[in-house]
Amino acid sequence: MQMFSTLLGLATLSCISTASATATNTLAKPAFTYDQLWNFQIAFWDSFLYPENVKQVKGNESTVFTPETQGRVDITRTFDGDELNREYIYGLFSDPSTVSLVGVPIAYHITQFVGNNNITSATTVVTFNSTTFGVTLPVTIDTWIQYNADGKIASYDATFRWFGYLLDTLLEGVAEKINGTSEKALAYVTDTLAKSICATSTSHCKGENQQYDDSDACYKYLTEKTRFGQPHELGRNTLLCRSIHEHMVQYRPEVHCEHIGPTGGGYCVDDMTYGQTVLQKYFNHSWIPYGYGQDQNIWVAN
Ligand SMILES: *[C@@H]1O[C@H](CO)[C@@H](O)[C@H](O)[C@H]1NC(C)=O
Ligand SMILES: *[C@@H]1O[C@H](CO)[C@@H](O)[C@H](O)[C@H]1NC(C)=O
Ligand SMILES: *[C@@H]1O[C@H](CO)[C@@H](O)[C@H](O)[C@H]1NC(C)=O
Ligand SMILES: *[C@@H]1O[C@H](CO)[C@@H](O)[C@H](O)[C@H]1NC(C)=O
Ligand SMILES: *[C@@H]1O[C@H](CO)[C@@H](O)[C@H](O)[C@H]1NC(C)=O
Repeated sequence: MQMFSTLLGLATLSCISTASATATNTLAKPAFTYDQLWNFQIAFWDSFLYPENVKQVKGNESTVFTPETQGRVDITRTFDGDELNREYIYGLFSDPSTVSLVGVPIAYHITQFVGNNNITSATTVVTFNSTTFGVTLPVTIDTWIQYNADGKIASYDATFRWFGYLLDTLLEGVAEKINGTSEKALAYVTDTLAKSICATSTSHCKGENQQYDDSDACYKYLTEKTRFGQPHELGRNTLLCRSIHEHMVQYRPEVHCEHIGPTGGGYCVDDMTYGQTVLQKYFNHSWIPYGYGQDQNIWVAN
């Protein structure tokens, strides 16, 4: 209740400040044409599809992201920098042979799009080939993307629309396949994901990077000591979060092993409340072009 009245208070304040706002209506640079912005959007999704995405994971400097990229995905968390973002945005979805929730992206359809100044906002239905679950799935991703003067991605904010529904649908599909109840399906998926994570941990996380005493301790931890996770908890202390991070371990074990370990390494951790998540001042660039809304934009850092 307290939280909601705080939020309401904020909303009221924003209304007042909007009314009194005087926008600085300057044509700031870089300002791209609608056509250029549309092409940036297309180029991003082209690079996202498998097997094109495999190329992006490799190499040491991105043709897509700026070195200071800031990214946020609502069901996970925030990701800073080019290397990390390439690992997450491309690496996560680039191997059909690994156990994963949605698999690899094979097609996309942009259904909503506007672009202005250096920002695009789009809704895209991306078809994933979920090789683990043997289905193809449409996944709706809402994106805000901001480009630097060279047309590279300086920041993005992505929302997986209907993700809870998607997860339920995957689990229902599993239930059907194994001819079991939804509890049995959840147990089956838990077992599949945990075994895969533990195999990755055993083969890649050695020496200083070792996370668990052995494979059994790993399995026990993932199936008994941590929770499966809600659809919004892919960046929290859950099995689902470790399943996401498992895919990155191969690229940089020294960075990613911790994320699949018991500590969660700062990525699979319960470090933020709902309120902190929603009100986080994360972005260094505003998402409102031409200097509008500076007096009320609570997501801008500094
Ligand atoms: C990328 O690799 C090349 C060749 O190995 C090297 O010269 C360059 O400095 C590297 N760039 C970065 C940003 O690490
Ligand atoms: C955002 O700005 C802060 C403060 O200037 C800086 O410390 C941080 O490194 C910036 N983030 C990125 C990703 O550039
Ligand atoms: C999905 O991936 C599997 C395994 O790689 C492949 O056999 C199948 O043809 C793919 N389906 C589509 C629609 O691309
Ligand atoms: C985008 O344009 C705004 C002006 O509206 C500017 O302040 C901002 O720095 C630009 N963003 C990037 C990443 O260059
Ligand atoms: C599914 O389970 C039910 C109840 O145990 C059983 O009657 C049915 O024959 C099973 N169907 C298949 C396809 O295995």
